[in-house]
Amino acid sequence: MPTDKENSDANQMWGGRFSSRPDHIMEEINASIGFDQRLAAQDVAGSKAHARMLAAVDVISDADADAICQGLDQVLGEIQRGEFEFSRALEDIHMNVEARLKALIGEPAGRLHTARSRNDQVATDFRLWLRQRLDEQLAQTDALIGALLDQAEAGADIVMPGFTHLQSAQPVVWGHHMLAYVEMFGRDRGRLEDARKRLNECPLGAAALAGTSFPIDRDATAAALGFDRPTANSIDSVSARDFALEYLSAATIMATHLSRLAEEIVIWCSAQFRFVTISDAFSTGSSIMPQKRNPDAAELMRAKVGRIMGALVGLATVMKGLPLAYSKDMQEDKERVFDAADALSLCLAAAAGVVADLSPNAERLAESAGAGFSTATDLADWLVRELGLPFRDAHHVTGSLVRAAEEKGVGLEGLSLPEMQAVHDKIDERVFSVLGVENSVKSRISYGGTAPDQVRAQIKRWRAARS
Ligand code: ARG
Repeated sequence: MPTDKENSDANQMWGGRFSSRPDHIMEEINASIGFDQRLAAQDVAGSKAHARMLAAVDVISDADADAICQGLDQVLGEIQRGEFEFSRALEDIHMNVEARLKALIGEPAGRLHTARSRNDQVATDFRLWLRQRLDEQLAQTDALIGALLDQAEAGADIVMPGFTHLQSAQPVVWGHHMLAYVEMFGRDRGRLEDARKRLNECPLGAAALAGTSFPIDRDATAAALGFDRPTANSIDSVSARDFALEYLSAATIMATHLSRLAEEIVIWCSAQFRFVTISDAFSTGSSIMPQKRNPDAAELMRAKVGRIMGALVGLATVMKGLPLAYSKDMQEDKERVFDAADALSLCLAAAAGVVADLSPNAERLAESAGAGFSTATDLADWLVRELGLPFRDAHHVTGSLVRAAEEKGVGLEGLSLPEMQAVHDKIDERVFSVLGVENSVKSRISYGGTAPDQVRAQIKRWRAARS
C-alpha cells in the first residue's frame, strides 16, 4: 500500500507540472476521500464497464482489460475487508482506487483513464449510488404502506375523533385515518420513482466536459451499468446535480409526512390522549421517572426532517449560480445526500416498525369520538334532509342545540325530545339515530369518505394496486 510519502512530493495523478506537494491546508480542503469512499463499489463497477468497453472498441487490449478488471476486484475486496489504506494525498476514491490498481497490476492501470475524466466518473458513481438507495427506499416505502394498510384493515370499524385545528370536528374511523397516510406515502413513492427515472442516464464518456476523440461506445457502458441510455450532452453530464436535488426534494416532502405521522403518535400515546399504545420495542424509559414510557423513535422521526431539508437547502445553495461545467464546489454534494439518505432510510424503517406495533385503544377512541359535539354536522344534515331546512338555518338551529346541551352539561344525545323541540318544534324522535358516532361514520358514504365500507373499498383498491 503506498504511503502518502511514496506518492511522491507532487500528486502522482496530476502532479506532472507541479514540483512540490500542496500545502496541508490545500490537501485538507481538497480531499473528499473521508466521505466519498462510500462510492467504492460504484467506482469499481464504473471502471470495469469502462475498461471492457475500451477493449471492445480496440482502444486497449483485451489482456489489459482483463488485468484491470481483476485488479479492480482485488482493490474492492481490500476496501470491503477494511484492509485498504486510504490516502488523503490522493484526494478522492477515484484516485485512491487507481493508485492501488497501479501498485497491483502496473502499467495497464494507466490505460484505464483513457477517454474519461473524474468529472464524468464521479457523476456516474454518484448516480449509481443514489439509484441503489432509491431502490431500497422504494421497498421500504412499500413496507410502511403495507403496515398502514394492515392497521387500516384491522381498524376499519374503530371510531375515533377526526380533528380540524386539533379540535374535535367529526367522527371518523381509525382505518380512514391510516389510509390518509397511505395516500401521502403513495405519492411520495411516486416522487421517488420519478426521480429514479430521470436519474437513470449514464454520464460516463462525457469525459472532462467536451466528450472524447476516442471511438467509445457510450451505449455499451450505459447498458452494462443498468442505465436506460447515455446522457445526451457532455457539458450537462458533468455539471448536472439536479438528480440529487430532485431526490432531496422528494425526500424532504416524505420526511415532512413522516414527521406528521410521528407527531400524531407522540400526541396519541400521551396520558392525556391514550389513543394508542406504542410497543416496548419502540419506546424508552426515563432514568429518573419510573412511570415514563417515551416515544423516542417517533420523536426522532419527527426531528430528522431538519437534516433532510437542510441537505436540500444546502445543496441547492451550492448549485445556485454555478457556471457550467464542473466546478469543485460540486464535491460538496455527496455528504449532504449521504446524510439525508441515511436519515430517511432509518426513519422509514422506524416508521414501519412503530406503525406495525401500534395498538389503537378502541374504547378510548370511541369515547373521545363523541366528545366536543362531534355529531353536530350530522344533526344539521338531518334537519336539512328530514325537515327541509336550508343548510344555513339548520346550522343555526344546531348551534342553539349545542348551546343547550353545553348548559345542561351533556352531549347532544343527552338532550330530551322536549328540550330539542323547544329549539325547533318539528324535531321528532328519529333525530336520535344520527346523534351516535357509529351512525355518523356509517353515513359518510361519499367516495373517499369515512364510512367503514368506503374504507374497506379503498383498502381493497390499494392491495390490488400493490399485488
Ligand atoms: N472528488 C471530486 C468530486 O467529488 C471528483 C471530481 C474531481 N474533478 C476534478 N476535475 N477535480 O467532485
